[in-house]
Amino acid sequence: MAKSLYEKRFDGRKMDEVRPIIAKVGIVPSADGSASFETGGTKAIAVVRGPRTLHPQHLQNAQTGILRVSYGMMPFSVWDRIRPGPNRRSEEIGKVCEWALNSVVDLSGFPSTVIDVFIQIPKADAGTRVAGLNAAAMALAHAGIPMKEMITAIAVGKADKTLLVDIDKAEEDFHDGEGATDIPLAVTSRGKEITLLQLDGKISPTELSEAIEMGKKACDDILKVQMEALKNIGEEENE
Ligand code: CDP
Repeated sequence: MAKSLYEKRFDGRKMDEVRPIIAKVGIVPSADGSASFETGGTKAIAVVRGPRTLHPQHLQNAQTGILRVSYGMMPFSVWDRIRPGPNRRSEEIGKVCEWALNSVVDLSGFPSTVIDVFIQIPKADAGTRVAGLNAAAMALAHAGIPMKEMITAIAVGKADKTLLVDIDKAEEDFHDGEGATDIPLAVTSRGKEITLLQLDGKISPTELSEAIEMGKKACDDILKVQMEALKNIGEEENE
């Protein structure tokens, strides 16, 4: 088989190595729950509000609370200007994050209410939806929302023939050979169920299975960072 055209990562990482992570919980004292998740040039902040009574009343569900997730890149999060306000991409990302989180939260104890999760991206170097999910899961736990499991997310992918974990923007823009493939995925902490899987690019079924396994392994390590941050909530709040 021909050699891959991407044999050395631009930033020198190993193929299965994630960027250095900083995770914090309790970063917004006035919110019901909050957290940040930073990895290399990507940072996500998540803030939780609720549960509170949902208005208008006809949207309420008398059996359960409702999770509502919004996602937005901040105006100076990349060098190109980002227009503030919702767009198709932000709507899509908010929805896929909502679906991923909905599979672990148990809102049956909060009928007729809404729990709002606001994900904001102050700096973006690819992988913002997965960083946002990691922050959101921590923020929901911080807010005391019952969760059956945690959610951990990572983007895996491929540049030419080389499988990669935690692809950054330069790698997403790799055009030689087979080009780049970006696969954001989210995994539950105990059942290892996949609650988010998207694919942008081309990949064979065998490579996809291998990439998912690499991603799941990375998620095991990221989960430890999330749990550590949740243990150290007080430290951040008291700063
Ligand atoms: O961020 P994520 O990988 O989840 O989503 P994407 O749509 O694949 O975007 C990849 C990256 O492109 C973002 O993380 C940003 O670095 C960049 N981007 C940008 O520069 N301008 C935009 N309007 C959207 C994304």
